[in-house]
Amino acid sequence: MLAEPSRHVVDPASGALSAATGSYEKRLRDLAGVYGDAAAFDAACATSGDRVVYKVEDVRPAARHGDLIFGTTFMEPGKIADEFFVTRGHVHALGNRPETYYGEAGEGLMLMESPEGEVRILKIAPRVLVYVPPFWIHRSINIGASPLVMSFCYPADSGQDYDVISKAGGMAVRVVADGDGWRDVPNPDYRPRGPDEIAALYTRQD
Ligand SMILES: [Fe+2]
Repeated sequence: MLAEPSRHVVDPASGALSAATGSYEKRLRDLAGVYGDAAAFDAACATSGDRVVYKVEDVRPAARHGDLIFGTTFMEPGKIADEFFVTRGHVHALGNRPETYYGEAGEGLMLMESPEGEVRILKIAPRVLVYVPPFWIHRSINIGASPLVMSFCYPADSGQDYDVISKAGGMAVRVVADGDGWRDVPNPDYRPRGPDEIAALYTRQD
């Protein structure tokens, strides 16, 4: 039986997606271990750990191969010490599944890292479309003073592996404020993956 076609309106100000079928929120305290300055993170959590820092609304018509998941991400602006607010980040559990992100409002970056540790950083702004190819670990960063809102789309059977980043001590670089702008700096806690870990990531495909 055919699925019913559907139509969804994105509100670029709030990230609201009409007729969404699911949603989740991340509060600041959910992001322990993500930021470089643990003391600054703890201090921020002590005063505003319950604060919602990003939220996702999505539509998941079916989980089967060949279908899509699509939705919106709304990210608050802010920093922990000098490091801009980020999403937790992940690689797709089925690694050869790609994703697109489209800027709706605000100013952001898509930070991507290959299993081998190569880094790519692409700017997102309204009407900018970013393609995250298969196997790239990806994390969104709000480098602006206002909310970053993006819409996204990925194959329904992608899944997410969030541990890939924590197991490596974070991503290879962090993005920090630099005057009115930003710059990426090496993450001193980063432990590059060994050959076996890299090979294991590439076996997760079909
Ligand atoms: Fe993803």
